[in-house]
Amino acid sequence: MATLIKNGTLVTAEKTFQADILIQDEKIHRVSPGLEADSALTIDASGKLILPGGVDPHVHLDLPMFGTVSSDDHYTGHKAAAFGGTTTAMDFVVLEDKGFKYSVDLWLEKSQKAAIDYSFHMNLTQFNDNIAKQIPSLREMGIQTIKVFTAYNGRLRLDDGSIFKALQIARDNGMLVMAHCENGDVIETLVTQALMADHLTPEWHALTRLAWGAVEATFRMAAMAQQADTPVYIVHMNAGGEVDMLKYARERGVKVMGETCPQYLFFTIDNLRQPDGAKWICSPPMRTKEDNARLWQGLTEGIVQTVGTDHCPFFFDGTKPILYEGEKIAIPGKELGKDDFTKIPNGLPGIQDRMPVLWTTGVRAGKITANQFVAYMSTNPAKVFGLYPRKGALLEGSDADVVIWDPEKKVNYGVATSHQRTDYNLYEGWELTGYPEKVFLRGKLIVDGNEWKGKRGEGQFLKRGEGQMI
Ligand code: URP
Ligand code: ZN
Ligand code: ZN
Repeated sequence: MATLIKNGTLVTAEKTFQADILIQDEKIHRVSPGLEADSALTIDASGKLILPGGVDPHVHLDLPMFGTVSSDDHYTGHKAAAFGGTTTAMDFVVLEDKGFKYSVDLWLEKSQKAAIDYSFHMNLTQFNDNIAKQIPSLREMGIQTIKVFTAYNGRLRLDDGSIFKALQIARDNGMLVMAHCENGDVIETLVTQALMADHLTPEWHALTRLAWGAVEATFRMAAMAQQADTPVYIVHMNAGGEVDMLKYARERGVKVMGETCPQYLFFTIDNLRQPDGAKWICSPPMRTKEDNARLWQGLTEGIVQTVGTDHCPFFFDGTKPILYEGEKIAIPGKELGKDDFTKIPNGLPGIQDRMPVLWTTGVRAGKITANQFVAYMSTNPAKVFGLYPRKGALLEGSDADVVIWDPEKKVNYGVATSHQRTDYNLYEGWELTGYPEKVFLRGKLIVDGNEWKGKRGEGQFLKRGEGQMI
């Protein structure tokens, strides 16, 4: 059945305009004022905005960590994403010793329950000649992107020489390196010293992973990318100085792009000092008000390219079950580190929060335009990661991932309004104005107000093509 959305105001990364949208066979079939289609289901979107479905470039679903697992899987996380207006999510495959194919197959298996469209990045956490030779094979699996880490010594980190070789391989094969930027050696030293001094509370997570380590590593990655003559994408930018490094490098023609996450725009080390500080533990950590402000400027001024979530939720108290879809569920979480910050699982919920929170605090607050909002939330990630214009666009021929956004809807946000499968929300009690009213995935209505109409297994794996430097 075709669907005709009439009288809405379309907001794209480029412009805002009045038009109707006719959806047919999972695609946007026509975009024009005054469309008629007798046989179509017609929705009157007067007073509403029409946005392309959100594309979250950075999520971790069902991720094993510290003896537990992140508490949203590929169904619950996707469902939450959809309620926040996101219809595509990109997850990171853990590299197992048995190689890329084995690791990707495991992740495809986990993702059988997907409820929105999804694709993968590969964590490149081991490196030798054999692995190097196999990196191009990821392209045949639809994976164009590899994430490297300059931190997490002995676990995820690669040395700079290996990162540089990975950049060269990416260059030669039309792939993109994504980088987690912190200084692993300094962190290890500071953590050892903190533990010896019996500094065990959550704030020490931030005090052992300092901003200058992130700033220096971001600049180092940009410099390595320039020397390898290939682009790099800096994930979860958290320190104001990283925005400065990004600006400096981009002004000099270095092909570096940056992603920030909502949590780094609002929260600080002071949140870690609260009695429930473990809720804010993620890596890289929360910084200062000045860092929040500089990251916002990065969005206002268009220095930063995307906003991802780094959604990686854990329960605050995983000994107490919550009700999810009528079932009791409890998954060990932050309480694992109640006596030692190094044992607190790293990560935060955010996949549903991203668009509603940034609409109120960014667009309504006048920090970014509605068009910038669409660029950061949807179009830019689709372009960088090779999904544009199939995703991230309201063009004829694009997938009909469409959000009818009510710019006046007021929501008292928090656990009660969120579908993220955890027992807390970072934005608990925030008054939001502007929220998705209806969400379509490839033409199928999956969110209708408060009602979930999606299904597990309906999300499709997206084999991605080569992305663009933006
Ligand atoms: O704390 C976080 N962000 N956990 C997820 C892993 C990562 O480095 O992105
Ligand atoms: Zn990371
Ligand atoms: Zn991450």
